[in-house]
Parts: sequence; structure tokens; C-alpha cells
Amino acid sequence: MPEAEVPQSAKPAYEVPRHVAIIMDGNGRWAAARGLPRAEGHRRGVDALRRTVRAAGEIGIGYVTIFSFSAENWSRPASEVHELMGLLRRFIRNDLAELHQSNVRVRIIGEREGLDPDIGRLLVEAEDLTHNNSGLTLVVAFNYGSRQEIARAAQRIAREVAQGRLPPADITMETVGHFLDAPDVPDPDLIIRTSGEQRLSNFLLWQAAYSELVFVPTYWPDFDRSALESAIREYQQRERRFGGLVAKTGS
Ligand code: FPP
Repeated sequence: MPEAEVPQSAKPAYEVPRHVAIIMDGNGRWAAARGLPRAEGHRRGVDALRRTVRAAGEIGIGYVTIFSFSAENWSRPASEVHELMGLLRRFIRNDLAELHQSNVRVRIIGEREGLDPDIGRLLVEAEDLTHNNSGLTLVVAFNYGSRQEIARAAQRIAREVAQGRLPPADITMETVGHFLDAPDVPDPDLIIRTSGEQRLSNFLLWQAAYSELVFVPTYWPDFDRSALESAIREYQQRERRFGGLVAKTGS
């Protein structure tokens, strides 16, 4: 059947990934290449984040997860940690109203304990304000590590078992998924890492079981709509089999 005659409902679901997760890497190198302080790279990284969220919404992506502060980032110099915390504060204070207006729902994954109380409150405010929005879901991984998330899930499961509500034999993959930080968010179809590094660095390890990985040389502050579209084109050329034999190009 010619393309024009394919009814809308029969259009392949793989055209646009439902969930794109992004490791926003290379802010420091972007700054160093220009003789600028690392903090400037992070600030320009926030501009790239705004561009990318806007483009993702326009392209029709349902979920975008961003790795904005890893559990391991605490080992950076105190001044840089302070800068990143400040950027999150400013991002929520300055951009939340616009995200809300654009019908974006904000979700947060990661460990809340140990964060400055005002940051904890901002995260709750962002989630609460946008709770009923039905557009793009922006999942912010903040103070996030995937092994830590899986350990938290194990603790929650152990509590259910200890209280007699869950027989150990009933623990399945679905049970583990259910106790992760955002159980209703579908697994990422596509994970993009910028800056040329090719690893997951403790990001969404459970959820990435069948994700397509695309590594791009661009430093994060230079990432834009055309870089996103090019990563999506690469994703669309992949053959997703989910361990089976029949080629599937979408979930
Ligand atoms: C990696 O670059 C990036 C980060 C550690 C933080 C990502 C944060 C942002 C893009 C801005 C903050 C956004 C929010 C919402 C808080 P790098 O510093 O590791 O770069 P390098 O590997 O070149 O040194």
C-alpha cells in the first residue's frame, strides 16, 4: 500500500521513541575548550536542556529523563557541587512556571535524603504543581544512582516481606520494577550520551535492559534540536528484537 494510504492508526510506533533518556556530558570540556570556567559550561548546559525539552515536546516524545546530578557527583570540589545545586534551584524557580504552562509534568528520581531542605521543597513543589499535566513528562534524575535506586527497591520489598504482605516466591521482575523510584514511567527506548563517552555511569541500569544506546561526540552545551533529531534517526535504523527472533522496531 502506498505510504499515503496507510491509515494513521497503522503508522509504525517506532517513528518517535516514547522515552528518551539523556546523559548530559561534556559541560566541563566545552568550557575548557573556550578558556572559560567549568561553571559557565554548566550554565550553558541549562540552556541546552531548555532547548532539548522544547524540541522533544514538539517532536512528540512522551518522556525525557535527564541525568542532572549523580550520587557520585558529591565527590567533585565543593564549589562545583554548590554551583550545580544553585543551577537546580534557579532552573526550578525560573523555568517551572513555563514548564507548567507548556503542560509538562515534572517527576524526580533519586535520593531525597541528605539534600538541602529548600531543594527538597523545590522538588516537591515542581512535582505537585505539574502533577495533572498531560504533555511531556520530564524526569529529573537528581542525586541519582541506579544501583542505589535498586538497593532502595530491595529495602522496600524486604519491608513488605517482613510484614507478611509479600511471599518471597512472589517477587518477580515486575515486583522490582514496581518498587523503583518512578514505576509508572516506561523504560527508555533510547539513551543518548553526549561528549563521546561510551558508558552508562550508573544511570537507569535496570530500565536500560533493552534501550538503544546512541553516543554522540557533541558536548552537552552544544546539543540542540538537530542533534536530537539525528540521534532519533539513528535509533530508527536500529532493529529492536527484545531477545526474540522477530524483528521489532518499537515497544
Ligand atoms: C556533565 O558534565 C554534566 C553534569 C555533571 C551535570 C549536568 C547538569 C546540567 C546540564 C545543568 C544542570 C541542570 C539542572 C536541572 C540542575 P561534566 O561536568 O562531567 O563535563 P566534563 O566531563 O567535560 O568535565
